[in-house]
Amino acid sequence: ITDMHRPFLWAHRGASCLAPENTMAAFATAVECGADGLELDIHLSRDGVPIVIHDETLDRTTDGHGRVCTRTWPQLQMLDAGSWFSEAFAGEPIPALEEVLKTFGGRVRLNLEIKAFDAGVAVIELLQRYPDAESIVSSFDWRLLEHLRTTDASLPIAVLFAAGNWRHAVSLAVGLRSVAFHPEAGQVGRSMITACRQAQLPVHAWTVDDPVRAKSLLRAGVNGLFTKDPSALRGVVLPAAS
Ligand code: G3P
Ligand code: CA
Repeated sequence: ITDMHRPFLWAHRGASCLAPENTMAAFATAVECGADGLELDIHLSRDGVPIVIHDETLDRTTDGHGRVCTRTWPQLQMLDAGSWFSEAFAGEPIPALEEVLKTFGGRVRLNLEIKAFDAGVAVIELLQRYPDAESIVSSFDWRLLEHLRTTDASLPIAVLFAAGNWRHAVSLAVGLRSVAFHPEAGQVGRSMITACRQAQLPVHAWTVDDPVRAKSLLRAGVNGLFTKDPSALRGVVLPAAS
């Protein structure tokens, strides 16, 4: 598995420009494109199974309706999470996190973004059964990250930052012994990069699909990027590790 400190290419929700986001098809495509890691979003089913979907509700990316957490895993498994993207992906299911860990753990790094507080501990418990999967857990919910750090002293954590006081977010990341800082790309500036460098925190910015923008962020000192289109950035911007 690749070194997180060289320019690192994350496929955001998989290769979500090329296949329906957060599906096994999107993850397989990302790996084929040479992504170093897969970013995926985690919710919890009603019966406590960590599943891979971005939204709190099913409506945008599946043929189901309503809140994810009100459905059991057997119900969620029946849904079509591919047709909304293209008929070519009709029938593509919502994956369980466990399926992703089994298939891609040990092949590429995984960034598990926890979207629901209750999913946090369930994810940690599942990860203990897959010690070969190199995973990072991230969240916008810093309270959840604090809770997870208390629960597991060695869990690799990354702090997500969208907007507001980045200095506060960086000091929180340091306090949590984070392995990386993940800001929205528009928030990145020289002083943030300098502060993270001093704190020995790699900066991985989201979400960047334009090669020109990607190059300029890397020149500015960003260590990694999240992209929906790893095929556009791989090679042109971030050569794969030899
Ligand atoms: O990991 C960064 C990014 O995924 C956070 O935003 O809404 O795409 O999950 P979102
Ligand atoms: Ca995400």
